[in-house]
Amino acid sequence: MPGITIGDKVPNLQVETTHGKFMLHDYISDTWTILFSHPGDFTPVCTTELGMMAKYADEFSKRGVKLLGLSCDDLESHEEWIKDVEAFSGGHKVKYPIIADPNREIIKQLNMVDPDEKGSNGEPLPSRALHIIGPDKLVKLSFLYPATTGRNMEEVVRVLESLQKAAKYKVATPVNWKPGEEVVISPSVSDDQAKKMFPQGYHTADLPSKKGYLRFTQV
Ligand code: BEZ
Repeated sequence: MPGITIGDKVPNLQVETTHGKFMLHDYISDTWTILFSHPGDFTPVCTTELGMMAKYADEFSKRGVKLLGLSCDDLESHEEWIKDVEAFSGGHKVKYPIIADPNREIIKQLNMVDPDEKGSNGEPLPSRALHIIGPDKLVKLSFLYPATTGRNMEEVVRVLESLQKAAKYKVATPVNWKPGEEVVISPSVSDDQAKKMFPQGYHTADLPSKKGYLRFTQV
């Protein structure tokens, strides 16, 4: 697969954004970052998505997360379009920067190219890609949605919380997990270790194998 995927370090590209030019590593610094692309400015689904990102910005900020948008439109287009996005989102301000990548260099390096969608000039367009980048600048999770499917910001918050819990404790989140629910203890943790690591206690599912590998706790 071309470009970055989970486990890869984000390349330290210089980007031109609505908040000026900067290097990606300087922006990420040592914080969690959500880097997300959209197919194009002044398109319907993208307008709803970026407006919802603006609405959720506080949710991300209180979890120590920075946002960074991207499309292949130029800065002038972004600035004009942001007015529509803010109006549609009920006045939530787009406080996060949006990268302008008219030469398509960044979307290629960041694995954000949609294989099907093309601009009016036949140039590739970004998919609805979203990378969650850890403070170590490694990609922890990636979504790759087609242009026709808008992302779900509750799902972005959900997976972010899962990643942050897994980074902090030796746990993972089970099927359909939601923030606040019990997590499972990593199989690499022995029962003796689990007793020390999770003084709040844990309980083990009683399964036919009696192997005791499915242990739930609250963190
Ligand atoms: C949209 O944002 O609605 C959209 C953009 C590109 C292709 C299809 C839909």
